[in-house]
Amino acid sequence: MNKPLNGIKIIDFTHVQAGPACTQLLAWFGADVIKVERPGAGDVTRSQLRDIPDVDALYFTMLNSNKRSLTLDTKKPEGKAVLEKLIKESDVLVENFGPGALDRMGFTWERIQELNPKMILASVKGFSDGHEYEDLKVYENVAQCAGGAASTTGWWKGEESGPMISAAALGDSNTGMHLAIGILTAYIGRQQTGKGQKVAVAMQDAVLNLCRVKMRDQLRLDKLGYLEEYPQYPHESFSDVVPRGGNAGGGGQPGWILKCKGWETDPNAYIYFTVQGHAWPPICDAIGKPEWKTDPLYMTPKARQPHIMDIFATIEDWLKDKTKFDAVNILRKFDIPCAPVFSMKELLNDKSLRASGSIVEVPHKERGSYWTVGSPIKFSDLKPIITGSPLLGENTDEVLAELGYSSAEIAAMHEAKAV
Ligand code: COA
Repeated sequence: MNKPLNGIKIIDFTHVQAGPACTQLLAWFGADVIKVERPGAGDVTRSQLRDIPDVDALYFTMLNSNKRSLTLDTKKPEGKAVLEKLIKESDVLVENFGPGALDRMGFTWERIQELNPKMILASVKGFSDGHEYEDLKVYENVAQCAGGAASTTGWWKGEESGPMISAAALGDSNTGMHLAIGILTAYIGRQQTGKGQKVAVAMQDAVLNLCRVKMRDQLRLDKLGYLEEYPQYPHESFSDVVPRGGNAGGGGQPGWILKCKGWETDPNAYIYFTVQGHAWPPICDAIGKPEWKTDPLYMTPKARQPHIMDIFATIEDWLKDKTKFDAVNILRKFDIPCAPVFSMKELLNDKSLRASGSIVEVPHKERGSYWTVGSPIKFSDLKPIITGSPLLGENTDEVLAELGYSSAEIAAMHEAKAV
């Protein structure tokens, strides 16, 4: 099938999660993504958290589908020469090495531009260029702490009240998605100017971008001294920093995670329940409290807020003989924004997600097949076909031949352990 990014050649010099998530997305949409890996070892995720001995780990397979793998020791002269040739023929080079690693390898931005002025160099780093922490190496949780997610997530009192990491990859895959937008923007820019450019996304910035509403809250707190939608309001005091708000709704409507039937034994027997300000009467009807519709203590968001947790407790009481699915099936009829708390097991087996291609089964040469998360972006004229991740060096000879190397030259490179 002809795909929109067909013809875009990407050198995928990425590892772990942030960079691979970006290039995988571009590969799904048609780019030729050549993953460059160190001979003998490859991306560290190939061997991390393995579930089958000696077979590429799911950590790798789920972030590197639709790519080709070229092994290349870019610290050896033969390897450098191959990379130079590749740079001359490619459109984009994506990397997420530690700060300065690409320069130390001899591939500074100046050198890359000399080799190919149309090249787009896309980088992920922990912190932005010139930042006082620009020299730091960074992983997911470090970025969540640096970008404001950790200080604003979790409980504000009690033994579990410290900063909390989200399970969602806000530092890694999120940064990769930002980078993909940057690459495509630079590519469109190049169509206008004929010139490549450097695109960089810092993990701290990508996390902060998702914490925009928490920055909003800091600015409001600075002005007002309180935040009316937080569970601390109005009975507890605020300091001068945005507090952690537990499961409170982050927007203008209160919400909370509520227990449903079976919560005592099922860790995910919960729903998220949202109280939209303008939709109070249907909530009262849904939970069997029609008298609340006209009670001044309940009629307006302002009147409800001081006892919102008591309101949630009443709704929880209504939920106690309903499973999370029963509850959502009732509440959806009243147009109340809500959803079950799904476990990973439920998501993996979800018929709708499988039908839409958000969960897909993919063939793999050594594991047989594996389930993975497919494209969350849906198009009317493109259905991404997810193919298996490549074995280490699976496409080395093929890529070298495409670059014009003869069989004898390729054999010599293998001999020198440069590929
Ligand atoms: N051939 C030869 N050498 C190679 C190579 C290849 N094909 N691929 C990588 N290398 C070398 C690099 O040149 C570097 O060498 P140097 O440090 O001697 O210059 C070395 O491998 C390791 O690079 P580095 O990226 O620093 O690895 P690390 O394992 O120490 O650190 C991270 C891992 C993720 C912490 C670090 O890469 C990082 O901070 N990246 C940026 C932020 C990021 O993306 N983090 C999220 C990852 S999900």
